[in-house]
Amino acid sequence: MNILLVGYRAKDLFETCKHGKRRTAAWAAAEGVVCHTLDIYDRHAIEKTHHLKTLCSAHLPDGAWDAIKFKTGPKRMSGELALDLLQEIHILAGKTGAKVEIDFEGKERDKNGLLAKIRDNPDRIRNFSAKWKASVPGLEPLEFTSFPGCFCHRRMDEGGIALAEVVSRELKESGKGAVRLLDMGCGSGLVGLLVAKAAGNVDLVMVDSHSRATEAAQLNAKNLGVEAEVVLSDAGTPARMDGTFDVFAGNPPYYSDYRIADLFLETAARALKPGGTCYTVCKNAAGLEPVQRKRFGSAEIVKRRGYAVIRSVKAQ
Ligand SMILES: C[S@@+](CC[C@H](N)C(=O)[O-])C[C@H]1O[C@@H](n2cnc3c(N)ncnc32)[C@H](O)[C@@H]1O
Repeated sequence: MNILLVGYRAKDLFETCKHGKRRTAAWAAAEGVVCHTLDIYDRHAIEKTHHLKTLCSAHLPDGAWDAIKFKTGPKRMSGELALDLLQEIHILAGKTGAKVEIDFEGKERDKNGLLAKIRDNPDRIRNFSAKWKASVPGLEPLEFTSFPGCFCHRRMDEGGIALAEVVSRELKESGKGAVRLLDMGCGSGLVGLLVAKAAGNVDLVMVDSHSRATEAAQLNAKNLGVEAEVVLSDAGTPARMDGTFDVFAGNPPYYSDYRIADLFLETAARALKPGGTCYTVCKNAAGLEPVQRKRFGSAEIVKRRGYAVIRSVKAQ
């Protein structure tokens, strides 16, 4: 049986054996099972914990699937991402005749609400991408595209805009010529692309762990005429890029008790040239500022739009 698991994370794939020990569930460990993840972090976690075949991509993989199991629910993903994935599953199942099973985490009422949206016309193809505009002072509004699963799908993030405003203003004021910029946790490319368009002469690298984000960042760079290297990674930039950047900009997630924010800072410290500048943004500097100060020895706060942009310089 070829079975595609969609939406599962490492913790979902355990069962408790009769001795009370946790192990990979027999249904997940069966031959022919393939896990799909949208985030490369989830792929690495599944491979490390369960040693299962896992693929990470922005869209579900074609294959001779006999069954597709979809783990979803409101605490796990947005309703729009669930509908988008259900649409891809419906198309895949139509091609292969795969049996579809929905493993819903949440209330029956929520599950019925989700399924009611596609019950009347399951074959209708909906486009879930969105276009929206963002700008920084002195720049015409730029059009961005995002997809369900991207951070801030359908709108710009105020923290990201605050970061783009400070970085582009300071770059312009510095009168520096060509600049190599790393945008880590780039999402749809908001920060890196705004800075590249506003400051000009920017050699841009964008990194994100989510495949829908790198897909959007790549598309937006192309549509905006910016040459950029886009990297899918949950471990920062590859070693070949160490010590090559003039500027690092990161709007990290804060849900992991600063673990991911510190990974961003560790990457910045590694990727920047001596004398290069690291900028991060957060709502409340009290948590992040000490972490950044520890990495770089000093940190200054620039207030913007109700956010704190934290600036540090890598020692020469
Ligand atoms: C707060 S969002 C910022 C998105 C974008 N820069 C903006 O300002 O709109 C954080 C981003 O970090 C990404 N992310 C989370 N963990 C990551 C990791 N380990 N490596 C790279 N990106 C990561 C998320 O997928 C998300 O796109």
